[in-house]
Amino acid sequence: MEKKALLRKLNWFYSLEINQVALYQSQSREAGDPHLARALRKFAEIEQGHVENIRETIEKLGETPTLIGEVAGAITGKIAGRLTSLSSRERTLRFNIALEKKAIIHYKELIGQVDDPAVKDLLWNNMIDEELHTFWMLRKVAQRRRGLKRLRAKSQTKE
Ligand SMILES: [Fe+2]
Ligand SMILES: [Fe+2]
Repeated sequence: MEKKALLRKLNWFYSLEINQVALYQSQSREAGDPHLARALRKFAEIEQGHVENIRETIEKLGETPTLIGEVAGAITGKIAGRLTSLSSRERTLRFNIALEKKAIIHYKELIGQVDDPAVKDLLWNNMIDEELHTFWMLRKVAQRRRGLKRLRAKSQTKE
């Protein structure tokens, strides 16, 4: 892969990861559920690690990381439109899952194109973190759905 193309892609990830840090931090502050709040704070820390490891990689290639403004805006706009009918917590989680999945697709794609083994390792590691975030949040959505179903069943038997 050409160095210029790699740098363009790394800057794209750099921008996405910075946005994810901010997103998870603010969601964590607003989350009513303490378990979810702590998980989101933990995710923000992990995403911050990604910001730093991508920054280091860009710098090792002799460049300064640059923020691409429209990266997150373009992605988040597209995702948000599809979620309007859900409850706000589920909407937040589904939004995050969609964003993580987007990151995973792009990491996977770049892993297939990159030759440098150190860069490849870093991309694999970041991608697996994103997969873990995704699985955690998918599980949280499923638990919540089951909880709601139980509540509904209970209120029906009372009637
Ligand atoms: Fe990340
Ligand atoms: Fe993530």
